[in-house]
Amino acid sequence: MQFKAMILDNAEVSPGYWRMRMTAPPEMLAARPGQFVMVRVNPSIDPLIRRPFGVFDVGTLQPAYTGAAPQPYLEILYRVVGKGTGMLSTLHDNDILDILGPLGTGFEKGPAGEEKLIVGGGVGLAPLYLLAKELVKDSPVRLFAGGRTRDDVLCITEFERLGVECYTATEDGSLGECGLVTKVLEQRLDATANKGQIFACGPHGMLKAVAGIGAQRNVPTQVSLEGYMACGMGACLGCVCQGAEHSAENPDYRCVCTEGPVFEAAELKWEGN
Ligand SMILES: Cc1cc2nc3c(=O)[nH]c(=O)nc-3n(C[C@H](O)[C@H](O)[C@H](O)COP(=O)(O)OP(=O)(O)OC[C@H]3O[C@@H](n4cnc5c(N)ncnc54)[C@H](O)[C@@H]3O)c2cc1C
Ligand code: FES
Repeated sequence: MQFKAMILDNAEVSPGYWRMRMTAPPEMLAARPGQFVMVRVNPSIDPLIRRPFGVFDVGTLQPAYTGAAPQPYLEILYRVVGKGTGMLSTLHDNDILDILGPLGTGFEKGPAGEEKLIVGGGVGLAPLYLLAKELVKDSPVRLFAGGRTRDDVLCITEFERLGVECYTATEDGSLGECGLVTKVLEQRLDATANKGQIFACGPHGMLKAVAGIGAQRNVPTQVSLEGYMACGMGACLGCVCQGAEHSAENPDYRCVCTEGPVFEAAELKWEGN
């Protein structure tokens, strides 16, 4: 689905990280956790290619006065890294964006009642909020959020408000445990005899470590990948990654935008990429 969205709010929530709320058609309310949207950040030709962002949240705003229709909205959480995200951060309320989505697969929720362990690094938390919102309906949920410094640990209060138990870790020790968040995840798995399911999104190194932990302990693990995307719809093959069986003799590729961005960690090749 392609639609025009009017920006309702665009604010810096931590240095370099922004949260944008925009209007959306009612169909967007059916977006699954883990799906993404492709955003045209500028109506001119530069940058020409849309930028992908996970769906952080969807919901409906109830108008203050009676008689007006409820307004569905979409939120993204983004980090300014280059031209496109830099341009996004300069937009204001009432500016219009062109959006394609929701696209891609989402996370599989897994059995109700079983502990759900959500692991996010930096802006990797973006698609995990909608996931947590869905999972808390029928399972205990724990969030493991990591970053280099406290500025990279985002929206923890929002997760706590959902009823999620939050653990944080930073490499410089400025918030939570000092070190990698994967260490905290392992401590929890030790305490529960490897019960539950893992859901992760973040930098590749973190995902690789989480995939290793899941495989070693036999805990089902899903990861959401963030690669480069151009079309977002399976046409350019610019986003492919290697599947677990990949070798020079036996090419095994996965198209991240259509088959992912969420994969079972065991489906992918991790070593050396
Ligand atoms: C499925 C998917 C979901 C995503 N969800 C989010 C999200 O919710 N929030 C968010 O902030 N970002 C997300 N990203 C990453 C985001 O799309 C890129 O950061 C963005 O496209 C960069 O655009 P730019 O024009 O600002 O940067 P560019 O000018 O294109 O690049 C600037 C710098 O950023 C680096 N860079 C560009 N793209 C990426 C990337 N995908 N990963 C790591 N480094 C990159 C480049 O190497 C370069 O150094 C997602 C990516 C994918 C594929
Ligand atoms: S981004 Fe074009 S095929 Fe995935």
